[in-house]
Amino acid sequence: MKHYIDFHEDVSFEDLKYMLEISEEMKAKTKAGIKHHYLEGKSLAMIFTKSSTRTRVSFEVGMYQLGGQALFLSNNDIQIGRGETIYDTANVLSGMVDGIMIRTFKHSDIEDLAKYGKIPVINGLSDDQHPTQALADLLTIKEHKGGLKGLKLAYVGDGNNVTASLLQACAKAGMDISCASPADYTCGKKYVDQALEDAKVSGSKILMTTDPFEACDGADVIYTDTWTSMGQESEKASRVEIFKNYQVNSKLMGVAHKDAIFMHCLPAYRGYEVTEDVIDGPQSVVFDEAENRLHAHKAILVNCMK
Ligand code: CP
Ligand code: NVA
Repeated sequence: MKHYIDFHEDVSFEDLKYMLEISEEMKAKTKAGIKHHYLEGKSLAMIFTKSSTRTRVSFEVGMYQLGGQALFLSNNDIQIGRGETIYDTANVLSGMVDGIMIRTFKHSDIEDLAKYGKIPVINGLSDDQHPTQALADLLTIKEHKGGLKGLKLAYVGDGNNVTASLLQACAKAGMDISCASPADYTCGKKYVDQALEDAKVSGSKILMTTDPFEACDGADVIYTDTWTSMGQESEKASRVEIFKNYQVNSKLMGVAHKDAIFMHCLPAYRGYEVTEDVIDGPQSVVFDEAENRLHAHKAILVNCMK
């Protein structure tokens, strides 16, 4: 049984290659109207204790396109919201569905669900990581750049859950990654160390800096995310001040390669982490990136549940 909770721990080099291949295959089949019912008759429980547009819609539609069904369970609907334990929830769901996708605050709750249950668990975002996003991002870069190995991605802004999974994923894919964040907001050392470990095999180069211009120099991909993640709303005013020099704007794009692409996991806040001219401009691929959540998530589902 395969879980998809942590990109470093759960995605082998072979898994990554396979999932990218079947994402592309299933994307082509979807566009051509060819059925691909690899999970016929299977059910996925989707637990959300945080909001979502892309993750919810892509997993729900993805299960339908794979011939299965998905159940949307928000905090208000299931008994977790009223204090039922992860242990009991894991055991109950294991008897009724074939897999669980969960978006929640504590990363350890997702690990516990996998530990106590008997079915695959997919991490749809925790405070610490966002691994499903990272696979869709690699797929998007591969489509736009024709490959992954040797390319350079520069991440600018808050060293958050998205950054952690990007570090893990780029290192697995053989991409160079440089991250620029204010000193107290860099991505955790654990993720940098994991990336350095995989980089020994894949040949990636990892750079952690506080200087956005150093990070973006010669980059093929410029990536940013919100300065205020879900759960940090009370810090919004101070974060706007702390991150003001980490905005992706045309000046920063100017130090990247001329044909660099701009990526953002969305939701985006124009005028804060990115200017309107960049996110709505010709180098932006954010809507391809969002669409690819559907195709990448189907690959994750097939890899875990087939
Ligand atoms: N990027 C992403 O995970 O979007 P949602 O929060 O809308 O799912
Ligand atoms: N870092 C953001 C990502 C949203 C998809 C958050 O956690 O809110």
